Amino acid sequence: MKNSGKRLVSVLEGQTVSPPPVWLMRQAGRYLPEYRELRARAGSFWTMCNDPDMATEITLQPIRRFGFDAAIIFSDILTVPFALGRKVTFEESVGPRLEPVSSADGLERDPAIWRQKLSPAYETLKKVRAALPAETTLLGFAGAPWTLATYLAAGRGGDEQKAAKLWGYRDPESFGVLLDLLGDCVAAHLIAQIEAGADAVQIFDSWASGLPADVFTRWVIAPTKRIVENVRAAKPDAKIIGFPRAATLQGYERYARETGVNALSVDTSAPVDWMAKLDVPVQGNLDPLLLVTGGDGLARAVDGLVEKMRGRPFIFNLGHGVLQETPPDHVAALVARLRS
Ligand code: CP3
Repeated sequence: MKNSGKRLVSVLEGQTVSPPPVWLMRQAGRYLPEYRELRARAGSFWTMCNDPDMATEITLQPIRRFGFDAAIIFSDILTVPFALGRKVTFEESVGPRLEPVSSADGLERDPAIWRQKLSPAYETLKKVRAALPAETTLLGFAGAPWTLATYLAAGRGGDEQKAAKLWGYRDPESFGVLLDLLGDCVAAHLIAQIEAGADAVQIFDSWASGLPADVFTRWVIAPTKRIVENVRAAKPDAKIIGFPRAATLQGYERYARETGVNALSVDTSAPVDWMAKLDVPVQGNLDPLLLVTGGDGLARAVDGLVEKMRGRPFIFNLGHGVLQETPPDHVAALVARLRS
């Protein structure tokens, strides 16, 4: 078989796989004791992202424990602003902080420098691939230009899309220059990750909600379409999952149709009857809080999702990342339920 039996890649090729392949956004992280132990020794999250040996170990931790169908490399979407020359820090229980920008002028434009600053991700991919079971899909990823722009404009995360929106409304031209530069760096990063061994890549547009429809077209759909085209120009078979989190149903449908992604990842609010009617492979969308509560509620939700998506190309995942307070046993129960 061309994809050497990788179940998740088969879904991205449009096939129906039963039981559905499963991985979870943020499957590596603070809910796992073995992660917390390594993190305590490393000191900081950013140090671990940029150390390929540590990042490889962390990527493999949830694979060893749960046998997911895919491993996603341990890294962060803010490596791209870092490659563009911004200082990035992660403060304990505060989240990411970066030097804000109000123009694209001072940002790094040399792809050779981007590549060098992003190289820990490529080293990590090579090391993970060498250690991963042949049937496990290896995923790379990047943030989408709009979401990265929200962090660059505000200098932080959270509900801070305001700074980026104000910039985009006041000065569409210079905001467009920023989105294009981010898109160039993201496309180069995705291509390099595929070259380093990623079987597929996911584009995270975590702040895609709440945009007026015409603005969603300009800041979410158009930059993503441009990235997909540029990646496919270099890698015609590239498999790309798009996650414009909490876009409206109409926004999701347009994104799926117009960007050219192979699969659409949807958040918790998307109705499963609607998901089952889409004509692209779908990923999602269990509520991460059900994984915290576990028990019968979790089992019923898993069964319901699988039942309704039966006969469709579907990847089982959450609607957003695993929460820190998630008991690892509940994750094991989820995987067992899916495969029983
Ligand atoms: O999914 C995975 O397991 C792969 C690794 C991964 C991380 N971040 C590790 C991480 C991925 C794919 C991301 C993507 C990412 N990073 C997104 C898009 C997805 C989403 O959640 O919407 C965003 C917005 C970021 C930026 C970011 N990184 C924030 C806002 C935070 C702080 C929030 C928090 O939970 O503390 C991070 C830190 C981060 N990225 C952690 C992990 C495991 C927590 C690090 C720690 O404190 O140990």
